[in-house]
Amino acid sequence: MSESATRSALARLAADLEQLESQSQLRSLDHAEGVNLCSNDYLALSRDPRLKAAVVEALQGGAALASTGSRLLSGNDPAWESLEEEFAAFVGARGALFFSSGYAANLGLLSALLRPEDLVFSDSANHASLIDGIRLSRARKVVFPHLDLNFLEDRLADSRREHCEKFIVVESLFSMEGDRASLAEIAALAEKYGAALIVDEAHATGVLGPQGRGLVAEAGVREAVLASVHTCGKALASAGAFVAGSDILKRFLVNRARTFIFSTSPPPYMAHQIRAALRLARQADDRRARLFSLADALRARLKELGFDTGRSNSQIIPVMLGSNDSALRAAEALRRAGFAIRAIRPPTVAPGTARLRISFNAGLSETDCERLIQALAGATISPHAPALRVSAQSSG
Ligand SMILES: Cc1ncc(COP(=O)(O)O)c(C=O)c1O
Repeated sequence: MSESATRSALARLAADLEQLESQSQLRSLDHAEGVNLCSNDYLALSRDPRLKAAVVEALQGGAALASTGSRLLSGNDPAWESLEEEFAAFVGARGALFFSSGYAANLGLLSALLRPEDLVFSDSANHASLIDGIRLSRARKVVFPHLDLNFLEDRLADSRREHCEKFIVVESLFSMEGDRASLAEIAALAEKYGAALIVDEAHATGVLGPQGRGLVAEAGVREAVLASVHTCGKALASAGAFVAGSDILKRFLVNRARTFIFSTSPPPYMAHQIRAALRLARQADDRRARLFSLADALRARLKELGFDTGRSNSQIIPVMLGSNDSALRAAEALRRAGFAIRAIRPPTVAPGTARLRISFNAGLSETDCERLIQALAGATISPHAPALRVSAQSSG
């Protein structure tokens, strides 16, 4: 009986995989080989000898390899508490709580904070972890078109008569678009219509704002932000994420965020790694400047060639291609030219907006950029290559 149930369940899975394949949506695991344009290692710290030395030193100094339990049981090493204090001060918050991943941070934060009677205004380009956290809370949701603040304001105005808690949820630097939320304007809307603001700073932390403190710090809106989320697996070349905010928020999450409570704490040596990465990142103005000058130059060249890079103004540059097939073929052409790059397809982005996502890091060279431009331009003229180029009119 159970064998036939297993067979039937597996048949269902196989049918689902076939359907994904027929829609050019099937994924498989691959190694990033060649010049890496798909990593989030924006400051190129992931192999930095200074960071390696800091981890070795921490281990030799007695930092444990395993936490042995949830922070509420045996896993609360003092290294995490001092790191949380240091991180909170870095982003200008009163408190911060570390989660084992950015996904866990967003899921834990939103599912604990939001209640079914609440109304949440969520940007349509928000990351899956934000979407899933809101879903899990069962709060009522208004999805507004990406960074359409007029639409957002209209819907906030419509909701004026509703006497419920309201929340606005955005990323500060959007992961698939590479564009920035105008946090000062959004904070003003939040203030005007009585909504609390939650900002995911995953791609801005370490990269944008003074010393890489993020866009909440740059916009000077910390007091208007209920919670900001800062992942450590990207520019900070580690793993995990902080939720930063007030002391009350931190105490609430320790008691209510299920992804924090019911999960083994990451190992204490990692707290030392993140602390070292944070110290390197705050002194990395030179790397940030290089990252942005490389990305700006590439974006300008791509636009000249007629590619549509959307509204990107950061180290993340989408090359909009539309269909899943075009994006897959373009990624394959670039792979053959020696670049590791991924075709980004639904459900990560909206249907019909498949793209290449160029994710820059400060370790790339001018030669890499020039070769990339040649490869992209070459892919448009090869008879077997995808029609990559779009009309100049539709770019920008
Ligand atoms: C905006 C955003 N938030 C959260 C996450 C999840 O972070 P993590 O990879 O640490 O789980 C990501 C990951 O890519 C992201 O892009």
